Amino acid sequence: MKDIPQQPKGTRDFYPVDMRVQNHIFTVWRKAALKFGYEEYEGPSFEHLELYTGKSGEEIVSQLYNFTDKGGRNLALRPEMTPTLARLVIQKGGELKKPFKWFSIPRLFRYERAQKGRLREFFQLNLDIIGTESIGAEADLLASIANMLFDFGLTDDDFSIGVSSRKLLAAFLEELNAPDKNAIYPLLDRRLKMANGEFETALLSAGLNEEQAKKLNYFMGCVSLEEVKNLTAPAQNASTAPSESSVAIRELEELFSLLTDSGFANCVKLDLSVVRGLAYYTGIVFEVFDKNKSMRAIAGGGRYDNLTEILGGQKVAGVGFGMGDVVLADLLREKNLLPQSRADLPIYLTSFNSNMNLLFKTAAEFRKAGVACSHPLAPAKFGKQLEQANSCGAKAVVFADGEKSQNGIFEYKILASGEQGIGTLEDILRLL
Ligand code: HAM
Repeated sequence: MKDIPQQPKGTRDFYPVDMRVQNHIFTVWRKAALKFGYEEYEGPSFEHLELYTGKSGEEIVSQLYNFTDKGGRNLALRPEMTPTLARLVIQKGGELKKPFKWFSIPRLFRYERAQKGRLREFFQLNLDIIGTESIGAEADLLASIANMLFDFGLTDDDFSIGVSSRKLLAAFLEELNAPDKNAIYPLLDRRLKMANGEFETALLSAGLNEEQAKKLNYFMGCVSLEEVKNLTAPAQNASTAPSESSVAIRELEELFSLLTDSGFANCVKLDLSVVRGLAYYTGIVFEVFDKNKSMRAIAGGGRYDNLTEILGGQKVAGVGFGMGDVVLADLLREKNLLPQSRADLPIYLTSFNSNMNLLFKTAAEFRKAGVACSHPLAPAKFGKQLEQANSCGAKAVVFADGEKSQNGIFEYKILASGEQGIGTLEDILRLL
Protein backbone atom coordinates (compact mmCIF):
# COMPACT_ATOMS: atom_id res chain seq x y z
CA MET A 1 0.00 0.00 0.00
CA LYS A 2 2.63 2.52 1.12
CA ASP A 3 4.55 2.29 -2.15
CA ILE A 4 1.76 3.33 -4.52
CA PRO A 5 2.11 6.85 -5.92
CA GLN A 6 -0.06 9.48 -4.25
CA GLN A 7 -2.98 11.03 -6.09
CA PRO A 8 -1.68 14.17 -7.89
CA LYS A 9 -2.26 17.41 -5.98
CA GLY A 10 -5.47 19.23 -6.90
CA THR A 11 -7.15 16.20 -8.51
CA ARG A 12 -10.10 14.14 -7.34
CA ASP A 13 -10.99 10.46 -7.40
CA PHE A 14 -14.59 9.76 -8.21
CA TYR A 15 -15.64 6.50 -6.57
CA PRO A 16 -19.16 5.45 -7.62
CA VAL A 17 -20.53 7.13 -4.50
CA ASP A 18 -18.99 10.45 -5.66
CA MET A 19 -19.75 9.88 -9.33
CA ARG A 20 -23.47 9.68 -8.59
CA VAL A 21 -23.34 13.21 -7.13
CA GLN A 22 -21.16 14.41 -10.01
CA ASN A 23 -23.63 12.97 -12.52
CA HIS A 24 -26.44 14.83 -10.78
CA ILE A 25 -24.59 18.09 -11.49
CA PHE A 26 -23.94 17.11 -15.12
CA THR A 27 -27.59 16.07 -15.60
CA VAL A 28 -29.00 19.35 -14.26
CA TRP A 29 -26.47 21.34 -16.33
CA ARG A 30 -27.23 19.43 -19.51
CA LYS A 31 -31.02 19.62 -19.07
CA ALA A 32 -30.86 23.36 -18.39
CA ALA A 33 -28.69 23.99 -21.47
CA LEU A 34 -31.02 21.93 -23.66
CA LYS A 35 -34.05 23.71 -22.18
CA PHE A 36 -32.60 26.99 -23.51
CA GLY A 37 -31.87 25.49 -26.93
CA TYR A 38 -28.07 25.11 -26.67
CA GLU A 39 -26.47 22.24 -28.63
CA GLU A 40 -23.65 20.16 -27.20
CA TYR A 41 -20.14 20.09 -28.71
CA GLU A 42 -16.71 18.83 -27.63
CA GLY A 43 -13.07 19.28 -28.55
CA PRO A 44 -9.76 17.61 -27.68
CA SER A 45 -8.48 17.84 -24.10
CA PHE A 46 -5.12 19.10 -25.36
CA GLU A 47 -4.37 21.74 -27.97
CA HIS A 48 -1.33 23.41 -29.50
CA LEU A 49 0.17 25.66 -26.82
CA GLU A 50 0.02 28.51 -29.29
CA LEU A 51 -3.78 28.59 -29.04
CA TYR A 52 -3.38 29.93 -25.49
CA THR A 53 -0.13 31.86 -25.33
CA GLY A 54 -0.58 35.56 -25.53
CA LYS A 55 -4.27 35.23 -26.35
CA SER A 56 -5.99 34.65 -23.06
CA GLY A 57 -4.32 37.10 -20.73
CA GLU A 58 -1.52 36.31 -18.33
CA GLU A 59 -3.75 34.63 -15.79
CA ILE A 60 -4.47 31.50 -17.79
CA VAL A 61 -1.12 31.22 -19.55
CA SER A 62 0.80 31.10 -16.28
CA GLN A 63 -1.52 28.30 -15.16
CA LEU A 64 -0.99 25.96 -18.09
CA TYR A 65 0.02 22.33 -18.03
CA ASN A 66 2.18 22.24 -21.16
CA PHE A 67 4.46 19.59 -22.60
CA THR A 68 6.37 18.62 -25.71
CA ASP A 69 5.16 15.41 -27.33
CA LYS A 70 7.35 12.76 -28.98
CA GLY A 71 7.05 14.60 -32.29
CA GLY A 72 8.45 17.77 -30.72
CA ARG A 73 5.10 19.61 -30.75
CA ASN A 74 4.36 22.13 -28.00
CA LEU A 75 1.01 21.19 -26.52
CA ALA A 76 -1.07 22.15 -23.51
CA LEU A 77 -3.88 20.50 -21.58
CA ARG A 78 -6.86 22.79 -22.05
CA PRO A 79 -7.22 25.29 -19.19
CA GLU A 80 -10.48 26.66 -20.61
CA MET A 81 -12.82 25.93 -23.51
CA THR A 82 -13.18 29.35 -25.14
CA PRO A 83 -10.04 29.20 -27.37
CA THR A 84 -11.09 25.72 -28.60
CA LEU A 85 -14.55 27.06 -29.39
CA ALA A 86 -13.02 30.00 -31.26
CA ARG A 87 -10.86 27.54 -33.24
CA LEU A 88 -13.93 25.47 -34.14
CA VAL A 89 -15.73 28.61 -35.29
CA ILE A 90 -12.77 29.80 -37.39
CA GLN A 91 -12.32 26.36 -39.00
CA LYS A 92 -15.91 26.13 -40.25
CA GLY A 93 -16.07 29.81 -41.23
CA GLY A 94 -19.27 30.66 -43.05
CA GLU A 95 -20.54 27.05 -43.01
CA LEU A 96 -21.99 27.53 -39.53
CA LYS A 97 -25.35 29.26 -39.57
CA LYS A 98 -25.15 32.16 -37.13
CA PRO A 99 -26.13 32.98 -34.54
CA PHE A 100 -25.86 29.64 -32.76
CA LYS A 101 -25.95 28.54 -29.14
CA TRP A 102 -23.60 25.77 -28.05
CA PHE A 103 -22.69 24.14 -24.74
CA SER A 104 -20.00 21.80 -23.52
CA ILE A 105 -18.90 20.22 -20.24
CA PRO A 106 -15.11 19.91 -20.61
CA ARG A 107 -12.65 18.54 -18.07
CA LEU A 108 -10.10 21.35 -17.63
CA PHE A 109 -6.58 21.56 -16.22
CA ARG A 110 -4.89 24.51 -14.56
CA TYR A 111 -1.57 24.50 -12.81
CA GLU A 112 -2.57 26.65 -9.87
CA ARG A 113 -2.20 26.48 -6.14
CA ALA A 114 -4.85 23.99 -5.08
CA GLN A 115 -7.13 25.46 -2.41
CA LYS A 116 -10.79 25.53 -1.45
CA GLY A 117 -12.81 26.00 -4.62
CA ARG A 118 -9.74 25.80 -6.86
CA LEU A 119 -8.31 22.54 -8.17
CA ARG A 120 -5.85 21.54 -10.86
CA GLU A 121 -8.45 19.45 -12.65
CA PHE A 122 -12.13 20.33 -12.72
CA PHE A 123 -15.22 20.32 -14.90
CA GLN A 124 -16.78 23.45 -16.29
CA LEU A 125 -20.10 23.94 -18.03
CA ASN A 126 -19.66 26.36 -20.93
CA LEU A 127 -22.56 28.10 -22.68
CA ASP A 128 -21.69 30.36 -25.59
CA ILE A 129 -23.57 32.25 -28.26
CA ILE A 130 -21.68 32.94 -31.46
CA GLY A 131 -22.49 35.36 -34.24
CA THR A 132 -24.60 38.10 -32.68
CA GLU A 133 -23.79 41.47 -31.17
CA SER A 134 -27.27 41.72 -29.72
CA ILE A 135 -27.57 42.15 -25.98
CA GLY A 136 -30.32 39.50 -26.20
CA ALA A 137 -27.45 36.96 -26.15
CA GLU A 138 -26.23 38.19 -22.75
CA ALA A 139 -29.83 38.13 -21.49
CA ASP A 140 -30.28 34.53 -22.69
CA LEU A 141 -27.05 33.43 -20.97
CA LEU A 142 -27.82 35.15 -17.67
CA ALA A 143 -31.39 33.82 -17.68
CA SER A 144 -30.00 30.33 -18.24
CA ILE A 145 -27.63 30.72 -15.27
CA ALA A 146 -30.44 31.79 -12.95
CA ASN A 147 -32.67 29.06 -14.31
CA MET A 148 -30.14 26.27 -13.81
CA LEU A 149 -29.25 27.42 -10.29
CA PHE A 150 -32.98 27.30 -9.48
CA ASP A 151 -33.10 23.80 -10.99
CA PHE A 152 -30.45 22.78 -8.45
CA GLY A 153 -32.83 24.02 -5.73
CA LEU A 154 -31.07 27.32 -4.98
CA THR A 155 -33.09 30.54 -4.66
CA ASP A 156 -32.27 34.18 -5.32
CA ASP A 157 -31.38 34.42 -1.61
CA ASP A 158 -28.47 32.06 -2.26
CA PHE A 159 -26.65 33.63 -5.22
CA SER A 160 -26.23 36.86 -7.11
CA ILE A 161 -25.02 37.64 -10.63
CA GLY A 162 -22.83 40.75 -10.69
CA VAL A 163 -22.80 42.48 -14.07
CA SER A 164 -20.37 45.06 -15.37
CA SER A 165 -19.10 46.26 -18.74
CA ARG A 166 -15.54 46.38 -19.99
CA LYS A 167 -16.79 48.86 -22.59
CA LEU A 168 -18.11 51.17 -19.85
CA LEU A 169 -14.90 50.85 -17.87
CA ALA A 170 -12.73 51.61 -20.92
CA ALA A 171 -14.93 54.59 -21.83
CA PHE A 172 -14.76 55.96 -18.28
CA LEU A 173 -10.96 55.57 -18.15
CA GLU A 174 -10.82 57.38 -21.49
CA GLU A 175 -13.03 60.19 -20.18
CA LEU A 176 -10.74 60.39 -17.14
CA ASN A 177 -7.71 60.65 -19.42
CA ALA A 178 -6.15 57.70 -17.60
CA PRO A 179 -2.61 57.16 -18.92
CA ASP A 180 -2.10 53.38 -18.90
CA LYS A 181 -5.33 51.36 -18.82
CA ASN A 182 -3.53 48.02 -18.80
CA ALA A 183 -1.84 48.88 -15.51
CA ILE A 184 -5.20 49.89 -14.02
CA TYR A 185 -7.40 46.87 -14.90
CA PRO A 186 -5.63 44.45 -12.52
CA LEU A 187 -6.02 47.01 -9.70
CA LEU A 188 -9.75 47.28 -10.36
CA ASP A 189 -9.96 43.49 -10.14
CA ARG A 190 -8.31 43.57 -6.69
CA ARG A 191 -10.06 46.71 -5.40
CA LEU A 192 -12.42 44.94 -3.00
CA LYS A 193 -9.56 42.94 -1.50
CA MET A 194 -7.60 46.10 -0.66
CA ALA A 195 -7.73 48.00 2.61
CA ASN A 196 -9.30 51.47 2.76
CA GLY A 197 -7.12 53.98 0.94
CA GLU A 198 -4.84 51.32 -0.51
CA PHE A 199 -6.71 51.32 -3.82
CA GLU A 200 -6.29 55.06 -4.41
CA THR A 201 -2.60 54.85 -3.47
CA ALA A 202 -2.13 52.03 -6.00
CA LEU A 203 -3.87 54.14 -8.65
CA LEU A 204 -1.44 56.97 -7.97
CA SER A 205 1.45 54.55 -8.50
CA ALA A 206 -0.19 53.47 -11.77
CA GLY A 207 0.06 57.06 -13.02
CA LEU A 208 -3.29 58.66 -12.11
CA ASN A 209 -3.37 62.01 -10.36
CA GLU A 210 -5.27 62.43 -7.08
CA GLU A 211 -8.44 63.74 -8.66
CA GLN A 212 -8.53 60.93 -11.22
CA ALA A 213 -7.91 58.32 -8.52
CA LYS A 214 -10.73 59.73 -6.37
CA LYS A 215 -13.15 59.83 -9.29
CA LEU A 216 -12.30 56.27 -10.32
CA ASN A 217 -12.73 54.97 -6.79
CA TYR A 218 -16.10 56.71 -6.56
CA PHE A 219 -17.14 55.34 -9.95
CA MET A 220 -16.21 51.77 -8.96
CA GLY A 221 -18.49 52.01 -5.94
CA CYS A 222 -21.60 52.92 -7.98
CA VAL A 223 -24.44 50.45 -7.49
CA SER A 224 -26.94 51.91 -9.97
CA LEU A 225 -26.82 53.09 -13.55
CA GLU A 226 -28.32 56.41 -12.45
CA GLU A 227 -25.24 57.06 -10.31
CA VAL A 228 -22.99 56.04 -13.20
CA LYS A 229 -24.77 58.44 -15.54
CA ASN A 230 -23.97 61.35 -13.23
CA LEU A 231 -20.26 60.59 -13.55
CA THR A 232 -19.96 59.85 -17.25
CA ALA A 233 -20.18 61.91 -20.43
CA PRO A 234 -23.71 62.92 -21.52
CA ALA A 235 -25.37 60.59 -24.00
CA GLN A 236 -25.10 63.04 -26.85
CA ASN A 237 -23.66 66.45 -27.53
CA ALA A 238 -25.56 68.43 -30.15
CA SER A 239 -23.12 67.64 -32.93
CA THR A 240 -21.37 64.39 -32.03
CA ALA A 241 -22.18 60.68 -32.02
CA PRO A 242 -23.35 59.12 -28.72
CA SER A 243 -20.56 58.90 -26.17
CA GLU A 244 -18.97 55.46 -25.71
CA SER A 245 -20.01 55.42 -22.08
CA SER A 246 -23.64 56.17 -22.91
CA VAL A 247 -23.68 53.30 -25.44
CA ALA A 248 -22.36 50.95 -22.76
CA ILE A 249 -24.90 52.23 -20.21
CA ARG A 250 -27.72 51.75 -22.74
CA GLU A 251 -26.61 48.12 -23.23
CA LEU A 252 -26.69 47.49 -19.50
CA GLU A 253 -30.15 49.09 -19.25
CA GLU A 254 -31.42 46.88 -22.05
CA LEU A 255 -29.95 43.79 -20.42
CA PHE A 256 -31.54 44.54 -17.04
CA SER A 257 -34.86 45.26 -18.72
CA LEU A 258 -34.86 41.90 -20.59
CA LEU A 259 -33.95 40.07 -17.38
CA THR A 260 -36.68 41.85 -15.45
CA ASP A 261 -39.25 40.69 -17.97
CA SER A 262 -37.85 37.16 -17.81
CA GLY A 263 -38.49 37.22 -14.05
CA PHE A 264 -34.83 37.25 -12.97
CA ALA A 265 -34.49 40.87 -11.79
CA ASN A 266 -33.74 39.70 -8.23
CA CYS A 267 -30.81 37.58 -9.37
CA VAL A 268 -28.78 40.27 -11.14
CA LYS A 269 -27.21 43.52 -10.05
CA LEU A 270 -24.78 46.10 -11.34
CA ASP A 271 -21.35 45.34 -9.88
CA LEU A 272 -18.57 47.43 -11.40
CA SER A 273 -15.98 45.52 -9.38
CA VAL A 274 -16.41 42.60 -11.81
CA VAL A 275 -13.51 43.08 -14.20
CA ARG A 276 -12.50 39.46 -15.09
CA GLY A 277 -8.92 38.31 -15.42
CA LEU A 278 -9.11 37.07 -19.01
CA ALA A 279 -7.94 39.63 -21.54
CA TYR A 280 -10.29 38.78 -24.41
CA TYR A 281 -13.51 40.28 -23.00
CA THR A 282 -14.76 43.37 -24.84
CA GLY A 283 -18.23 44.21 -23.51
CA ILE A 284 -20.56 43.01 -20.78
CA VAL A 285 -18.78 40.86 -18.16
CA PHE A 286 -20.36 39.02 -15.24
CA GLU A 287 -19.61 36.79 -12.29
CA VAL A 288 -21.86 34.66 -10.13
CA PHE A 289 -21.23 34.49 -6.39
CA ASP A 290 -22.90 32.97 -3.38
CA LYS A 291 -24.90 35.68 -1.64
CA ASN A 292 -22.36 36.25 1.16
CA LYS A 293 -19.46 36.18 -1.30
CA SER A 294 -17.87 33.73 1.12
CA MET A 295 -16.76 31.43 -1.70
CA ARG A 296 -14.93 31.92 -4.97
CA ALA A 297 -16.98 32.65 -8.09
CA ILE A 298 -19.44 29.96 -9.15
CA ALA A 299 -19.33 31.17 -12.75
CA GLY A 300 -17.95 33.93 -14.89
CA GLY A 301 -18.09 35.11 -18.45
CA GLY A 302 -18.73 37.90 -20.86
CA ARG A 303 -18.61 39.16 -24.41
CA TYR A 304 -15.53 38.54 -26.55
CA ASP A 305 -16.15 40.04 -29.98
CA ASN A 306 -12.50 39.98 -31.11
CA LEU A 307 -11.28 36.52 -30.09
CA THR A 308 -11.58 34.79 -33.47
CA GLU A 309 -9.84 37.76 -35.07
CA ILE A 310 -7.04 37.70 -32.47
CA LEU A 311 -6.55 34.02 -33.29
CA GLY A 312 -6.17 34.82 -36.96
CA GLY A 313 -9.70 34.26 -38.27
CA GLN A 314 -12.56 36.47 -39.38
CA LYS A 315 -14.10 38.68 -36.70
CA VAL A 316 -17.10 36.86 -35.21
CA ALA A 317 -19.00 38.12 -32.17
CA GLY A 318 -19.14 35.80 -29.16
CA VAL A 319 -20.42 35.79 -25.61
CA GLY A 320 -20.52 33.04 -23.02
CA PHE A 321 -19.67 31.82 -19.56
CA GLY A 322 -18.05 28.98 -17.66
CA MET A 323 -19.49 27.47 -14.47
CA GLY A 324 -17.17 25.20 -12.51
CA ASP A 325 -18.33 22.11 -10.65
CA VAL A 326 -16.20 22.66 -7.53
CA VAL A 327 -17.62 25.83 -5.97
CA LEU A 328 -21.11 24.90 -7.17
CA ALA A 329 -20.90 21.54 -5.36
CA ASP A 330 -19.56 23.28 -2.21
CA LEU A 331 -22.54 25.65 -2.22
CA LEU A 332 -25.07 22.87 -2.92
CA ARG A 333 -23.55 20.81 -0.10
CA GLU A 334 -23.74 23.75 2.30
CA LYS A 335 -27.43 24.23 1.41
CA ASN A 336 -28.13 20.49 1.67
CA LEU A 337 -29.13 20.34 -1.97
CA LEU A 338 -26.99 17.45 -3.12
CA PRO A 339 -28.99 14.25 -3.56
CA GLN A 340 -28.39 11.28 -1.27
CA SER A 341 -25.84 9.14 -3.07
CA ARG A 342 -27.33 5.70 -3.34
CA ALA A 343 -26.72 2.89 -5.81
CA ASP A 344 -29.78 2.27 -7.91
CA LEU A 345 -30.66 -0.86 -9.87
CA PRO A 346 -34.20 -2.04 -10.63
CA ILE A 347 -33.61 -5.78 -10.47
CA TYR A 348 -31.11 -8.25 -9.06
CA LEU A 349 -31.58 -11.82 -10.33
CA THR A 350 -30.83 -14.68 -7.97
CA SER A 351 -30.88 -18.44 -8.29
CA PHE A 352 -31.54 -20.86 -5.41
CA ASN A 353 -29.44 -23.51 -7.15
CA SER A 354 -26.75 -21.15 -8.45
CA ASN A 355 -27.89 -22.04 -11.95
CA MET A 356 -25.49 -19.75 -13.81
CA ASN A 357 -26.80 -20.58 -17.28
CA LEU A 358 -30.34 -19.72 -16.24
CA LEU A 359 -29.15 -16.45 -14.67
CA PHE A 360 -27.30 -15.36 -17.81
CA LYS A 361 -30.26 -16.41 -20.02
CA THR A 362 -32.88 -14.58 -17.93
CA ALA A 363 -30.67 -11.48 -17.59
CA ALA A 364 -30.28 -11.38 -21.37
CA GLU A 365 -34.08 -11.50 -21.77
CA PHE A 366 -34.61 -8.71 -19.23
CA ARG A 367 -32.01 -6.49 -20.85
CA LYS A 368 -33.52 -7.16 -24.28
CA ALA A 369 -36.75 -5.81 -22.82
CA GLY A 370 -34.77 -2.70 -21.80
CA VAL A 371 -34.61 -3.48 -18.08
CA ALA A 372 -31.33 -3.01 -16.20
CA CYS A 373 -30.38 -5.94 -13.98
CA SER A 374 -27.42 -7.69 -12.45
CA HIS A 375 -26.81 -11.17 -10.96
CA PRO A 376 -24.10 -13.26 -9.27
CA LEU A 377 -21.14 -14.00 -11.53
CA ALA A 378 -20.25 -17.22 -9.76
CA PRO A 379 -22.21 -19.78 -7.72
CA ALA A 380 -22.87 -18.37 -4.25
CA LYS A 381 -24.91 -19.17 -1.15
CA PHE A 382 -28.35 -17.61 -1.35
CA GLY A 383 -27.63 -15.26 1.59
CA LYS A 384 -24.57 -13.93 -0.22
CA GLN A 385 -26.67 -13.31 -3.33
CA LEU A 386 -29.10 -11.21 -1.28
CA GLU A 387 -26.22 -9.24 0.22
CA GLN A 388 -25.02 -8.50 -3.31
CA ALA A 389 -28.54 -7.40 -4.28
CA ASN A 390 -28.54 -4.93 -1.39
CA SER A 391 -25.13 -3.49 -2.12
CA CYS A 392 -26.12 -2.96 -5.78
CA GLY A 393 -29.05 -0.86 -4.56
CA ALA A 394 -31.53 -3.29 -6.17
CA LYS A 395 -35.19 -2.45 -5.75
CA ALA A 396 -36.40 -5.99 -6.37
CA VAL A 397 -34.89 -9.45 -6.21
CA VAL A 398 -36.21 -11.80 -8.89
CA PHE A 399 -35.78 -15.53 -8.28
CA ALA A 400 -34.88 -16.96 -11.69
CA ASP A 401 -35.58 -20.53 -10.59
CA GLY A 402 -38.26 -20.00 -7.95
CA GLU A 403 -40.65 -22.93 -7.55
CA LYS A 404 -43.46 -20.92 -9.10
CA SER A 405 -41.32 -19.24 -11.77
CA GLN A 406 -42.16 -20.47 -15.28
CA ASN A 407 -42.77 -19.09 -18.78
CA GLY A 408 -42.14 -15.46 -18.09
CA ILE A 409 -43.67 -15.57 -14.60
CA PHE A 410 -41.25 -15.00 -11.74
CA GLU A 411 -41.18 -15.08 -7.98
CA TYR A 412 -39.96 -11.76 -6.62
CA LYS A 413 -39.35 -9.78 -3.46
CA ILE A 414 -39.55 -5.96 -3.29
CA LEU A 415 -36.68 -5.05 -1.00
CA ALA A 416 -38.02 -1.79 0.49
CA SER A 417 -41.38 -3.24 1.60
CA GLY A 418 -40.47 -6.92 1.90
CA GLU A 419 -43.51 -7.69 -0.27
CA GLN A 420 -43.24 -11.04 -2.09
CA GLY A 421 -45.27 -12.42 -4.99
CA ILE A 422 -45.26 -13.85 -8.47
CA GLY A 423 -45.75 -11.97 -11.72
CA THR A 424 -44.42 -11.05 -15.12
CA LEU A 425 -41.50 -8.64 -15.53
CA GLU A 426 -44.06 -5.86 -16.27
CA ASP A 427 -45.96 -6.68 -13.06
CA ILE A 428 -42.74 -6.39 -11.07
CA LEU A 429 -41.66 -3.14 -12.72
CA ARG A 430 -45.02 -1.59 -11.86
CA LEU A 431 -44.26 -2.16 -8.17
CA LEU A 432 -40.87 -0.41 -8.19
P1 HAM B 1 -12.99 31.55 -15.61
O1 HAM B 1 -13.44 32.72 -14.79
O2 HAM B 1 -11.54 31.30 -15.71
O3 HAM B 1 -13.62 31.74 -17.05
O4 HAM B 1 -13.69 30.25 -15.05
C1 HAM B 1 -15.09 30.19 -14.89
C2 HAM B 1 -15.45 29.37 -13.66
O5 HAM B 1 -14.77 28.11 -13.70
C3 HAM B 1 -15.00 29.99 -12.33
O6 HAM B 1 -15.94 30.92 -11.88
C4 HAM B 1 -14.93 28.76 -11.44
O7 HAM B 1 -16.23 28.36 -11.01
C5 HAM B 1 -14.45 27.69 -12.38
N1 HAM B 1 -12.99 27.53 -12.23
C6 HAM B 1 -12.00 28.24 -12.81
N2 HAM B 1 -10.80 27.78 -12.42
C7 HAM B 1 -11.03 26.76 -11.56
C8 HAM B 1 -10.21 25.86 -10.81
N3 HAM B 1 -8.89 25.92 -10.88
N4 HAM B 1 -10.79 24.92 -10.03
C9 HAM B 1 -12.13 24.84 -9.97
N5 HAM B 1 -12.96 25.65 -10.65
C10 HAM B 1 -12.43 26.60 -11.44
C11 HAM B 1 -13.33 30.93 -18.12
O8 HAM B 1 -12.80 29.85 -18.04
C12 HAM B 1 -13.92 31.43 -19.43
N6 HAM B 1 -13.32 30.64 -20.52
C13 HAM B 1 -15.42 31.30 -19.39
C14 HAM B 1 -16.08 31.72 -20.66
C15 HAM B 1 -16.76 30.92 -21.52
N7 HAM B 1 -16.09 32.95 -21.15
C16 HAM B 1 -16.76 32.94 -22.30
N8 HAM B 1 -17.18 31.71 -22.54
